[in-house]
Amino acid sequence: MINSRMSEKGDNILGISEKSKAIYPYNEWEIIEDRFDVNNNYRNETVFALSNGYIGTRGTFEENYKFDKETGLEGTFLNGFYESEKIRYGEFNYGFPDVSQTMLNVQNGKIIKIKLDDEEFNMNEGSILEYKRVLKLKEGILIRNITWVSPKGKKIRITFKRLVSLTNKHLMAIKCEITPLNFDGEINIISEIDGDVINHTADTNPLIDYGPYSRVLQPEEIKADNTLLSIISKTKNTKFVLCCASENKLISNNDYKISNVEEEYKSSVRYQIQGIQNQTVTFEKYISYVSSMDYDPNEIKGITNKILIQASTEGFNNIAMDQKSYVYDFFDSADVKIQGDAALQQGIRFNLFHLMQACGRDGKTGMGAKGITGEGYEGHNFWDTEMYIIQVLVYISKDLAKHLLDFRYSTLDAARDRAIELGHPNGALYPWRTINGKEASAYYPLGTAQYHINADISYAFHKYVEVTDDVEYLVEKAAEVYIETARVWLDVGDFIKERDNKFCIHCVTGPDEYTALVDNNCYTNLMARENLLYAYDTVCWMKKNRLKEYKELANRLELKETELELFKKAADNMYFPYDEKLEIYGQDDTFLYRKPWHPERLPEEKRSLLYKYYHPLFVFRHKMCKQVDLLMAMYLLRDKFSKEEIEKHYQYYEPLTLNHSSLSTCILGILSCDLGYYDKAYEYFTSTSRLDLDDYNQSVHTGIHAANMAGTWMNIVFGFAGMKTYDDKLTFNPYIPKAWGSYSFNVTYKNKIINVTINHEQIIYKLTQGDECVIKHKDKELVLIKDKDVVVTAKFENVEKEDDSSKDKDKHKVFG
Ligand code: BGC
Repeated sequence: MINSRMSEKGDNILGISEKSKAIYPYNEWEIIEDRFDVNNNYRNETVFALSNGYIGTRGTFEENYKFDKETGLEGTFLNGFYESEKIRYGEFNYGFPDVSQTMLNVQNGKIIKIKLDDEEFNMNEGSILEYKRVLKLKEGILIRNITWVSPKGKKIRITFKRLVSLTNKHLMAIKCEITPLNFDGEINIISEIDGDVINHTADTNPLIDYGPYSRVLQPEEIKADNTLLSIISKTKNTKFVLCCASENKLISNNDYKISNVEEEYKSSVRYQIQGIQNQTVTFEKYISYVSSMDYDPNEIKGITNKILIQASTEGFNNIAMDQKSYVYDFFDSADVKIQGDAALQQGIRFNLFHLMQACGRDGKTGMGAKGITGEGYEGHNFWDTEMYIIQVLVYISKDLAKHLLDFRYSTLDAARDRAIELGHPNGALYPWRTINGKEASAYYPLGTAQYHINADISYAFHKYVEVTDDVEYLVEKAAEVYIETARVWLDVGDFIKERDNKFCIHCVTGPDEYTALVDNNCYTNLMARENLLYAYDTVCWMKKNRLKEYKELANRLELKETELELFKKAADNMYFPYDEKLEIYGQDDTFLYRKPWHPERLPEEKRSLLYKYYHPLFVFRHKMCKQVDLLMAMYLLRDKFSKEEIEKHYQYYEPLTLNHSSLSTCILGILSCDLGYYDKAYEYFTSTSRLDLDDYNQSVHTGIHAANMAGTWMNIVFGFAGMKTYDDKLTFNPYIPKAWGSYSFNVTYKNKIINVTINHEQIIYKLTQGDECVIKHKDKELVLIKDKDVVVTAKFENVEKEDDSSKDKDKHKVFG
C-alpha cells in the first residue's frame, strides 16, 4: 500500500517523494528539523522563514552565525522596501527601465547571543545533546530546543520561540528560555541589532548584474538606551528611511546588570545575571520595523517605540495566543484534509501556511514570486500572484485576495505612465516585474513583452468579483482596471486585412519563456479577448445599473463610445492561429513550424539551465515550451473548449512542455484530471505538492515558489475534485487518488461556504454558511441546505483513461 511509505524519520519508502528523499519527518501540522547540519542550513532558512506580509525573516539563528555565501543568508526583508540602482545596460534603448528595484535585506534585529562566562553559545562548538526546531503551522510560531554542552563542560538547555506577528504589521517577537543544567555561574545575554547588511544576489547569481552594489542601507542613527535599541538607516538612492528598534525584557527573580554599547553598525544591550542550576532565565525581545514608506520619517522612531512598549506590556505569550487564533481562523476556512497520506497532508498545509504568510495586506504591497523569504527574483511581483495565488485565495481568504488586487489598483497610475512610454496613446500597461508598480525587468523579450500580464490582472479582478459577488469592488476598482488594460490591446493589435480583417496582436511574448516576441500568441489573444469583454460587458452593466458611477468613470477616463465599440469588435474578431492539417491551434503564428530539438545538442545537465548555456536565439528557434502556454489558456477557459479539443491540444503540447518553470506542472495536473488521466495527474501533483519541502529543484534556498504552492491547492480542488465555475454555479467532477483514504476542503463562493468530502464510496457536499445554494455534481444539480449533508454515491472504479501521449512518455522525444 502506497501509504505505508511514511516513516518517523521522514525516510521515503514509496510514492510521492521518490523524486527525492523527504527531508523533514512527515507530520501533519509541523515541520521538524531534528539535527543541525550546516550543509542544510541555506535551504532550512527558507523553509523556516516567517512573515506577516510585511516583515519576512529567514530561519536564521539568533546567535547570528556568519555563514559563507554557499551555506547561508542572514535575511530580513520588508515587503515593498527596495533600493534602486541605475541598470547597467551594454546597449540602451528607449523605454528600457532606467533603474532596478530590489527588495532589501534590512537591519537584523533577531540577534541574541548567550555567554556562559567566557564561552559563547555556538552550535558549531562544544556538543549538542538535543536539537529540535519546529515550525508550528497551526500556531504560526517557530520553536527551537537545544541542549548544549560548552567546550568547557557547561550544560544548558535553551528554547527559542519566534514569531512575526500576523496581527501587527510592524512586529516580530522572540522568547528565549535558558536553563543551566549542571552549574551555577554568570550568564550574559547580549541582544543586538545589526545594521551592517547587504544583499547577496550579486554574489550568488552569476546571471544577475542588477544591483544593489555593496551596502546601500546606511545607518544614520544608532542608539542603545537601556532596554531599548534602535538603528535608523537610509537607502542610498531611493532615500527611504527605516527604523529597526527593539525592546528587551529579562524575567528573573535574581538581580542583573544592564550595559549598552553603540558601535559603527551595531546597537546592543548586555544582561549579566547569575545563573542558578535548574532555574530558567526568560528573556523576551520585541522587534519593530517602521519605514518612511508608511509614515513621516520624523515619526518612525516614535512609532516603533509605541509598538514595542505595547508589545512588551502584552507579553510574548499573549501575542502568541493572538497569533494562534489568527492562524486558526485562516485554516478554518483554508485547510485541506487528506486522510491516509501524511506526506501530502504536510505538503499542502506547509504551502498554504507560506501563502498566507506572504501576502501583502496593506493595499500597497503585493506578493513576490518568492514571498518574503529570500532574495530570489529580487523580491519582484509577477503574474504568479494573479494567475495562481489569487485564484486560490478568492475561495479561501477573500480579504487576502482583495489586498493583493488593491496593490495592482494602487499602481494603476504607474501602469498608465508605462503605456504612454511604450507608445500607446492611452490605457495602462502593467509591468512584468515590479515592486513599486514600475517596470523592473531589464530583459524585455522575456519581460515587458509579456503583455499578457494586463489580461492576467484583469482576469484576477474578474475572478474575485465573480467569486465574492463584491459588486462595489467592481464599480470602484475593477471596472477601471478592465477599461485601462483593454485600451492597450486596441493599440497593440489591429484588424489585419491580409488576415480577413481579424484582430491580430503582434510582437509579444506569451507565458512560455522559451519562445519570445511572436505574433498572435494564442494565450495572449485568448486572454486579451476576455479582457476586452470584461471592459465592454462591465460598461454595459454599469450603464444600466450604476449610471452615475459610470458617467463619473467615463468622464475621468475620457472614455469614448467608439472605444467601447472597438473593444467589442476586437474581441469578436480576435485572430487565433489554426492549422487546418493538424487541426490544432498554434501556440503562435509560427510555433508549429519550428525546428524540433535534438537531444544530442542539449546534454541532460545543461537542459534545465538553458539560458546559462545557450544563446536566447538558439532557445527561441526551437519547438519546445518552458512551461504551459496555450494549455494554460485552455485550463483557464475550459468552458470555451470541448473536451475533445482540449485533449487534442494536450496530446500535442504536453510532450513539448519541459516544465522548467514551477508554474507548469500543476496546470498539467489539472488538465490531466479533466481528461481522466488520473495516474498522470497524480504524478504531476506529487511534483508540485512538496516541491519546496523536499527541495526537488535544489533552489529553495533563494526563496519559496509561491505560485507552485498555490498550484497544490489548485491541483486538489480544480483537478481531483474537478471544481469549475460555470454560469455562476460551482460544478464538481470528483475523483480520489487511489493512495488517499479521503480528502475534504472548503470553498467560499458568493458568500456561501461549501464543504466537500470525497472518499472512495461517496462524495458529501455540505453548506456550512448560507441558507441554501445550488451546485452541480457533474451534470446534476444539487440543492444544498445549511448543515445538511448531500451524499452522492461514488463510482471511481476504472475511471483511469489511457493517455496515448504518455505511453512511452519521454520528455525528450520532442527533441528527436
Ligand atoms: C517563469 C515565469 C514566472 C517567473 C516567476 C519564470 O521562470 O517563466 O512565468 O512568472 O519565473 O515565478
